[in-house]
Amino acid sequence: MIRPARHGDVEAVLALVRGLAAYEREPDAVAMTADDLTMALFGDPPAAHCLVAGSPNPAGDVADVVGFAMWHPTFSTWTGKSGMYLIDLFVRPEHRRAGHGRELLTELARICGRRGYLRLEWAVLDWNTPAHAFYRSVGAAPTSEWTTWRLDARAIDTLAGPRSHHDSVT
Ligand SMILES: CC(C)(COP(=O)(O)OP(=O)(O)OC[C@H]1O[C@@H](n2cnc3c(N)ncnc32)[C@H](O)[C@@H]1OP(=O)(O)O)[C@@H](O)C(=O)NCCC(=O)NCCS
Repeated sequence: MIRPARHGDVEAVLALVRGLAAYEREPDAVAMTADDLTMALFGDPPAAHCLVAGSPNPAGDVADVVGFAMWHPTFSTWTGKSGMYLIDLFVRPEHRRAGHGRELLTELARICGRRGYLRLEWAVLDWNTPAHAFYRSVGAAPTSEWTTWRLDARAIDTLAGPRSHHDSVT
């Protein structure tokens, strides 16, 4: 069963994010707090959207959150349309190969269809060959010639100068 994350799912999703970081060999990388995640998902406007997966309980709700997918909209000047960037996808190890990952991506594809999004994109580590096999199984393919580049916070500050109003948006 798949449904949008609610306030009550924040701690469970945060635990899954930490699980993903450990899987991706950066166990100490998650600085995000429960408050950060709450603001991101339920702020106005939200910075990200999240689906959770799990088996249904008798009440028709997710009994136990075992996986999640987080995403945000993108825009392409080539297509002139919005798209979707998949930030994170994770299923707890003991619940893998039960279809949760495929269901999460299928629901994202449905959201893309409803919203008229033309691309659903993400980044995968080169060594993560199980994920490559999973993504190929749903019809995805790697983009050739494109590499993700990044200015980290230090590089941004070196380029832009010190931040004066940390929280202001201009
Ligand atoms: C990738 C991941 C989300 C897949 O979730 P899942 O719930 O196990 O996937 P599903 O059960 O829906 O698998 C669907 C199909 O994908 C393929 N697949 C999934 N995992 C696979 C694996 N480890 N090796 C080969 N094929 C795989 C299979 O074709 C599978 O169908 P089948 O089980 O009927 O053979 C999950 O393995 C995971 O959380 N991995 C660790 C985190 C990660 O790599 N996230 C992606 C970061 S970009």
